[in-house]
Amino acid sequence: MDNTINHVTVIGAGTMGSQIAMVAALAGITTTLTDISQDALDRAREQLYARMERKGTVDALENLTFTTDRDNAVAHTDIVIEAAIEDIDIKRTLFAELDAIAPPHTILVTNSSNIVSSRIADATTRADKVCNMHFFNPALVMECVEIVCHPGTSEDTRATVTELAERMGKKPIQVRKEIPGFVANRLLNALRKEALELYADGVASFEDIDAAATTALRHPMGPFQLMDLVGIDVVYLIRQAEYEQTGDAASLPHPEITKLYQAGRYGRKTGHGWYAYEG
Ligand code: 3HC
Repeated sequence: MDNTINHVTVIGAGTMGSQIAMVAALAGITTTLTDISQDALDRAREQLYARMERKGTVDALENLTFTTDRDNAVAHTDIVIEAAIEDIDIKRTLFAELDAIAPPHTILVTNSSNIVSSRIADATTRADKVCNMHFFNPALVMECVEIVCHPGTSEDTRATVTELAERMGKKPIQVRKEIPGFVANRLLNALRKEALELYADGVASFEDIDAAATTALRHPMGPFQLMDLVGIDVVYLIRQAEYEQTGDAASLPHPEITKLYQAGRYGRKTGHGWYAYEG
């Protein structure tokens, strides 16, 4: 079987999807970025163009097509990387639709860090070609990609996805058990949980907790700055998704996160999260 990936389709033109698509295009792979919203695609194109112009790599955009015509892209693709919302019902419906349209050899992966692929694979008729391929924000910069297979994923699929991650200039790591959060987010959550508790207990301001992380531990940014980068909405929805899987109240979003989420303060993308942003 020829496992070469010649065409990547990314679903969802948000922060993650747009940068994942750009990484594939930069690797010289023909890539399509698709979203139901033309506005989201236009925004993604604008942001990517500005970044590529700064880096002198605008030419790579020639490998990237932006379209709302998902079905036409999926009908000619070798792999679909889903980077849509963290909602199990939406993902299951989406994967069933993709399964009906994609050629038989096409691999279907999700970028989810919490919804494991065994909860989605049975919505398709190709469970052996379904797994998680989890990138980190900002995907253009962060090297790690977690490859997480479910028990029915074929070795062929694992190998192809791993090879693709390497071709995209990433460092794939193999996560051997399907646990929510996988490896990196488990580490991150432990730090974030402690940071939120210190803040809620009035031990220090969130700015000072961030300062401790950056100046005492040399983290590139503090946990509150990172939540604003990733998106308060994403942090909230990931916790909710984990709670749905574990049923453990400890998985629920911290009340301080819920407060920001309900106020629409999603972080950098809305101009205000923990911090306020200009422009
Ligand atoms: N998008 C794309 N590229 C970005 C970017 C962004 N939002 N922010 C910064 N960059 C690029 C810059 O263009 C620059 O690239 P260059 O060196 O090729 O010119 C490079 O990153 C470094 O940027 P800066 O010098 O401006 O700033 P820093 O040195 O402070 O780096 C950072 C910025 C890379 C974001 C760094 O602060 C960092 O690594 N932060 C931690 C990020 C992190 O932990 N991510 C994981 C989040 S968890 C996750 O994604 C999982 C999910 O499931 C929620």
